[in-house]
Amino acid sequence: MTQQDIYILGIETSCDETAAAVVANGKQVKSSVVASQVKLHEIYGGVVPEIASRAHVENILPVVSEAIDKAQITPDEIDAVAVANQPGLTIALMVGVTAAKTLAFGWGKPLIAVNHVHAHLQSALLGAESIELPAVALIVSGGHTNLYDAESAIDLRLIGRTIDDAAGEAFDKVATILGLPYPGGPNIEKIAKEGNPKAIRFPRSLLDRDNLDFSFSGLKTAVLYHCQGQNMKGENRVEQMSRQEVADIAASFQAAVIDVLVKKTHRAAKQIGAKTVLMGGGVACNGALREAMEAMRKNNNLSLLIAPKKYCTDNAVMVASLAYYKYQAGQFADLTLEPKASSD
Ligand code: KG4
Ligand code: ZN
Repeated sequence: MTQQDIYILGIETSCDETAAAVVANGKQVKSSVVASQVKLHEIYGGVVPEIASRAHVENILPVVSEAIDKAQITPDEIDAVAVANQPGLTIALMVGVTAAKTLAFGWGKPLIAVNHVHAHLQSALLGAESIELPAVALIVSGGHTNLYDAESAIDLRLIGRTIDDAAGEAFDKVATILGLPYPGGPNIEKIAKEGNPKAIRFPRSLLDRDNLDFSFSGLKTAVLYHCQGQNMKGENRVEQMSRQEVADIAASFQAAVIDVLVKKTHRAAKQIGAKTVLMGGGVACNGALREAMEAMRKNNNLSLLIAPKKYCTDNAVMVASLAYYKYQAGQFADLTLEPKASSD
C-alpha cells in the first residue's frame, strides 16, 4: 500500500447475491467475495424477495469479513465504504445499505452510494488504462437492458432501454417455457450450442423503428406460442419435444436477442459517433453475444471492452470500482441514505 492508494470496500445486495470486495484505485481487485443464493431460489424458478433479504442478513457480515481478510488490510486502511443503493429489490438493498452505513459510521469513514446498473459498466473498464471517447455502453442484465452514452465512469446519459422485459429476464422466462433449470441464461446458452439458430425465425422487436429502445416481451410470447403449436390450446408441448427441437428453439431465441442487442448497439454507436463499445451485465457472459459484438466491432473499426465473465454477473468489485470515481469527485452520501427500487 502506498500513500496515494485509495482502498474502497464495496457492498452489493441488490438481488440474489450477497457480495463484498476491496478494490484499490478503482482497478486493482484486492478481494472479491460473492455468496450466491441460486440454490435457495431455484425451486421457485425466480428470485423471491423475502428469501433474498433474509439470506442477505445471514450472509452480509461473514462476506464483508472475508473480503477484508482476503484483501489483507485492516478497516483502518479502508478509505471509504461504498454500497449499491439502487435499483433493485428494496428489502434486499436495505441489508447492504444498513451494513454500509453502520460500518462507515463505526469506522469513521465516508459513505458512497452507487447505482447498480452504472456499476455493471465498471466491470468492462477494469482492465483498461484509458478508453477512446465517445463510448457507447450496453448493460444487459436480468433487470435491465440499457444503452448509455458514456462520457466518463460517472457521467452516463441513458439513450435506450427496454420498454418491457430485460434481455436476461427473457432468457429466464424462455428457459422456464423450455423446461430448463433456473437461472435460465447459462442453461439456454448451453443447449443452444446443439441447436440451429436459423431453425425458427423469431421476431426482432423494434428493430425497424429508428430508436434505441428494446422490447423482449413479444419474443418471449412468440416462443410460448411456438411451443404450444398450431392448435394454440394453451398446452406446452415441450415435454413431447426431442432434445434437438428444444435446442433449435433455444438457439433461435438466443439469435433473435443477440441480433437486436448488437444492431441497436451499432445504431447507438453511429448516432453518437462512438469510438468504443462497452458491455457488461449478466447476459454479457453469453459467448455467442460476445462473439457477435466482436464481429460488429471489427466490421466498424470500433474498440470493444467486454467485462470478464467472472465480473459480468452481480459482484461488489464493480461497486467499489465505480465508487472510486465518486470518491475522486467528492460525491459522498450521508447516513440518511435509503435503498431505492428504481434508478434516480
Ligand atoms: O447482472 P446480473 O447478475 O443481475 C442483474 O443485475 O439482473 O444478471 C443476471 C441475468 C439473469 O437473467 C441470467 O439468466 C443472465 O443474466 N445470464 C445469462 C448468462 N449468464 C447469466 N444470459 C445469457 N447467457 C448467459 N450465459
Ligand atoms: Zn446486476
